Amino acid sequence: MGYTMNDDIKDILYSENQLKEMIAGLGKAITEDYKDKKLLLVSILRGSVIIMADLMREIKLPLEIDFMAVSSYGDDTKSSGTVKIIKDLDKDVAGYDILIVEDILDSGMTLSYLMDILAARNPKSIRICTLFDKPDRRKVQEIKADYAGAVVPDEFIVGYGLDYRQKYRNLPFVGILKEEVYSK
Ligand code: IMP
Ligand code: MG
Repeated sequence: MGYTMNDDIKDILYSENQLKEMIAGLGKAITEDYKDKKLLLVSILRGSVIIMADLMREIKLPLEIDFMAVSSYGDDTKSSGTVKIIKDLDKDVAGYDILIVEDILDSGMTLSYLMDILAARNPKSIRICTLFDKPDRRKVQEIKADYAGAVVPDEFIVGYGLDYRQKYRNLPFVGILKEEVYSK
């Protein structure tokens, strides 16, 4: 057999089934909390596409969705905190209860910047749902996940939307990338 993406994975952290259960749990909590709200899910491209597609089907309420793309410059495994909007929302979010859907909350720089931008547009509320939380690496302490699928250790993880240099997003599980892959 030739090379497969799986060869670059040190350990599997969450299997497909574990991810399914995690998303179902998040969906249930959100369904309870947003019963009488005007819910708008804002997916931050591209890492959150898979969680977004799965999570929205686990929320048993009327809701709307929109997408935003940002880029953060820095080296490949850490974000620099300089965030640029690549694609803005299509919607006027005034009066909406925004729930930002992210793949992973790391330094918090990306979300800190986004929360400021979105708050200035007069939504009714803004909260954060992240699949993974890496609190050990937080630089912006005020940024906290209102919903988190799991707390993960300070290792670089890929799969289920999460990338390394845009690859590995299509792995159906979440795994720890071998250090030799990014130290090359
Ligand atoms: P923050 O601004 O440092 O919180 O960066 C969050 C972004 O960094 C995420 O949306 C990911 O794109 C990326 N990121 C942080 N940690 C990881 C990881 O372990 N694997 C893949 N991407 C990561
Ligand atoms: Mg990324």
